[in-house]
Amino acid sequence: MKLRNRAASPELPAGVKKMTDSQEEVGAMTPLQLYERLNAQGEQVRCLKTAKAEKAEIDVAVQLLLKLKTDYKHLTGQDYKAGCPPPENVVNQDNGAATDGIDEEDNVDPWNVSTSNAKGVDYDKLIVRFGSSKIETELVDRIEKVTGQKPHRFLRRGIFFSHRDMHQVLDAYEKNKSFYLYTGRGPSSEAMHVGHLIPFIFTKWLQDVFDIPLVIQLTDDEKYLWKDLAIEECHRFAVENAKDIIACGFDVNKTFIFSDFDYMGSSPEFYRNVVKIQKHVTYNQVKGIFGFTDSDCIGKISFPAIQAAPSFSNSFPQIFGGRKDVQCLIPCAIDQDPYFRMTRDVAPRIGYPKPALLHSSFFPALQGAQTKMSASDANSSIFLTDTPKQIKNKINKHAFSGGKDTIEEHRKFGGNPDVDVSFMYLTFFLDDDEQLEKIKQDYSSGALLTGELKKILIETLQPMIAQHQERRKQVTEETVKQFMTPRPLNFKL
Ligand code: TYM
Repeated sequence: MKLRNRAASPELPAGVKKMTDSQEEVGAMTPLQLYERLNAQGEQVRCLKTAKAEKAEIDVAVQLLLKLKTDYKHLTGQDYKAGCPPPENVVNQDNGAATDGIDEEDNVDPWNVSTSNAKGVDYDKLIVRFGSSKIETELVDRIEKVTGQKPHRFLRRGIFFSHRDMHQVLDAYEKNKSFYLYTGRGPSSEAMHVGHLIPFIFTKWLQDVFDIPLVIQLTDDEKYLWKDLAIEECHRFAVENAKDIIACGFDVNKTFIFSDFDYMGSSPEFYRNVVKIQKHVTYNQVKGIFGFTDSDCIGKISFPAIQAAPSFSNSFPQIFGGRKDVQCLIPCAIDQDPYFRMTRDVAPRIGYPKPALLHSSFFPALQGAQTKMSASDANSSIFLTDTPKQIKNKINKHAFSGGKDTIEEHRKFGGNPDVDVSFMYLTFFLDDDEQLEKIKQDYSSGALLTGELKKILIETLQPMIAQHQERRKQVTEETVKQFMTPRPLNFKL
């Protein structure tokens, strides 16, 4: 699982040489993947010999076959035998990195986020592994200068911490070349949790300060493929989730929200881009990026092309009039980056600009920053449908505390805000920097107790969620229809 995010992705960190087909990163493969790779290489050698290919070409293929066999032995402790796949979970006891737990690399992909560190994922390391760039103070200052607005707290506090090509977007914007925003949601249930709001709150801010159009993809097809849900259910969840998204305050004149089930069938231009992308990504690549196996249905294997397509402006002719050169900027949490590493790798090969990205860190689960808030675990999350009482109970009962065991110890030694979930939540939602800093100091010194810190969080979240629920109530079916109808948007590029 943890191997997926390594350099097997097509877009590699600076300084890392991209591997050719014959130099794949074997270290990133599971025993089964390596076994399958060996089968394929054996087949290739046979084909070359049958076709009486040049000796040099056959030699290269045989050398690679031998090297893969050595790697297989090293990884599994067994010799490769065609027709005998490795038993499940086989690992060579001598192969320390994979087996002894010393390799504590965080696991971050579109489906799982976990780390053994109580402070959460090591985002600096993730930047290096994913090959993105850190959002430095200089970039935050530049955004402030270009927009003339105080940077959003998510930028001020490093919650959006990584980017791809944001300087390029700003260079063009300064020369009056505008861009559009693209983000999305996989509608797996009726209720979204607070973590899901993070990219939408930030996207709304970006839309306001840059005054630009926005497309929001609801991947009801993705959820049908991945979950045990009916198509109709996924589509219904898409419409329900659209109401929560609209309640974030997006401008109807500048925003198009679409369900894949609806839009794919009605837009030839969108589907053409999907197929173009499919043609330029191999099965080997998506296996490397997403960890797909031979048992995954073919819908999953081709789905990444559907999440990639909105990154290209000519997927929306009703908005961009067929222009294919409008730059796209994608705000999302970093779990979605694998999709866009693939997209950026494909873009120049099909004649489109690479989308730029802004990545956020994860809003942690109530139990601690080792994992992100997840909709499938009710106790890990605060949902947008929770009542004030539920919010209070969940925080009091489940929010992991960085406080000490007794009041006396806490007063003496102070609490640890770096692992305290209530404090982390406040960094996302309490806008006042001075107040936040004072809370941090008081908690660290022991002047503020865990119960008092939790009370501040409860009193911050209860009205915030109640206001969201109020705004959502105002969203009528007619409003949803307006947002979800393909139509021209109102903007200047
Ligand atoms: P989904 O529904 O898992 O998540 C929706 C958005 O929320 C972000 N996110 C979080 N952000 C902070 N803290 C969390 N705990 C947290 N959990 C989720 C995700 O990164 C995402 O931005 N396949 C996608 C849907 C999609 C999409 C896109 C997302 C389609 N096109 C373009 C972003 C950009 C999905 O299932 O997201």
